Amino acid sequence: MSFNKQNKPVIAVVGAGPGIGEAVARRFAAEGYVTALLARTEDKLQSMCERLEKDFGQGISRYYLTDLRNEEQVIASFSAIRTELGPVQVLVYNAGARRVNGRAVLDTTTEEFESFTKINLFGAFWSSKCVLPDMLAAGRGTIIFTGATGSLRGMPGLSSFSPGKFGLRSLAQIITREYQSKGIHTAHIIIDGPVDGKLIGGVKRRQWIRDGDKEKLEEVDAYIAQPDDLAQIYWFLHSQPRSSWTQELDVRAQKESMFSKL
Ligand SMILES: NC(=O)c1ccc[n+]([C@@H]2O[C@H](COP(=O)([O-])OP(=O)(O)OC[C@H]3O[C@@H](n4cnc5c(N)ncnc54)[C@H](OP(=O)(O)O)[C@@H]3O)[C@@H](O)[C@H]2O)c1
Repeated sequence: MSFNKQNKPVIAVVGAGPGIGEAVARRFAAEGYVTALLARTEDKLQSMCERLEKDFGQGISRYYLTDLRNEEQVIASFSAIRTELGPVQVLVYNAGARRVNGRAVLDTTTEEFESFTKINLFGAFWSSKCVLPDMLAAGRGTIIFTGATGSLRGMPGLSSFSPGKFGLRSLAQIITREYQSKGIHTAHIIIDGPVDGKLIGGVKRRQWIRDGDKEKLEEVDAYIAQPDDLAQIYWFLHSQPRSSWTQELDVRAQKESMFSKL
């Protein structure tokens, strides 16, 4: 635990980008957690760690370059986290990947299907296997998976996304049924609509600017989920008393259009 001398509790944010990932890391850092950030892009990870350290103190964050499609890299990163920071108490598996412009089944290659499914599902399986032994030894731990609308509904164009997300939901239920009685709280969050990040949020904003849709631009938070608001939910789930654990919840912005059409 060479980098966690004060023996602070450890959260691993797997799939840490500037949207939900960073917001969750910041929310837990504010509660005194040391944050291990896992993703592939070093400069983004470095900037997130710098922002965390600036706001929450030296040593509050470390990053671990990992391609979640590769089991050996996942194991190596969690082994380094254990050595440098200590056992993980909270695992947030946030990585997810999809095409912005979807493709039908017949146009989806095996490579694409495999690559996205590894990010959406396999990485969560491998990460959970890395943290569960220490959590079980401690008799407590929290595992939270980030889901999406595609976790519940197969829609045209999502052939390389939804199957992995459906599987992730099932994995959350299985871990709950296998390990909840041993102190492990596992939760699956269905984010049913766009998030205000660079990719999907950015596409939406550009579309509204093109359409001159002032109302939406003026009240973005009514239409797109805000990462900081979502991060509160991750903290809420983790801090629930054990008499009242949530296994799954869904969330969407007030005026999310797909939901309101159902
Ligand atoms: N954004 C939305 O509109 C939206 C809507 C509903 C649900 N969700 C769910 O929310 C989660 C993502 O949250 P976010 O959109 O706010 O993203 P984010 O937290 O800003 O970033 C997620 C990070 O995951 C990392 N990642 C992707 N593939 C990876 C891989 N193979 N290995 C390691 N890291 C990888 C990426 O970093 P690198 O590229 O550096 O690896 C990316 O920056 C996903 O589970 C997604 O399905 C998002």
